[in-house]
Amino acid sequence: KRIGVLISGNGTNLQAMINNIQAGNIEGEIVVVISNKAKVQGLERAEKAGIPTKVIPHGDYQSRQQFEEAIQEELISKRVELVVLAGFMRVLTEYFVSRWRGALINIHPALLPSFKGVNAWQQALDAGVRISGCTVHFVEVDIDAGAIITQEAVNVDMKETLASLQDKIRSAEQRALPKAVQLICSGKCRLDVKTGKIIWK
Ligand code: GRF
Repeated sequence: KRIGVLISGNGTNLQAMINNIQAGNIEGEIVVVISNKAKVQGLERAEKAGIPTKVIPHGDYQSRQQFEEAIQEELISKRVELVVLAGFMRVLTEYFVSRWRGALINIHPALLPSFKGVNAWQQALDAGVRISGCTVHFVEVDIDAGAIITQEAVNVDMKETLASLQDKIRSAEQRALPKAVQLICSGKCRLDVKTGKIIWK
């Protein structure tokens, strides 16, 4: 499948996908990386891998929808078939989600449905859970609420710090996201857009 990746920063999840594609683990190719922020490391990672990049700054647009229309134009021009939100920090509206539903996935650094929204790592520490992790899910209009594709758990130790937990979850993400992308590219996992549930082959 032709994959488009949306980023906002470091791009460690993007890098994991690049590595897995190069290793032959994913039946797909990343045809464009779009960032809403300029000069982020994720753009350098894409350039190093020879992937076309595009910066679409959300601040340049009058409305969320116009920002999303600019993203939509770039994705269509590259004939993207699957959109992966990899550290993309903007909320997408019904306009964009309704056009990509079933071909739009996100990675969240907690075991959904627990700890939706921002600072999921801190939420887990504050709740005193002993297990946390990450989730790859289909994107719905409701934040962090779509059908779950893959998850990976990590232990939260008594002396866990925010930094140590983020590191653990980041390495779990780097396995969970490529796995989810391959499940979709291989056709093993598909969203039934009527029920919002996944059809597994
Ligand atoms: C990751 O923790 C991801 O779960 C969240 O954004 C963070 C940064 O991702 N969505 P990346 O390093 O920019 O890929």
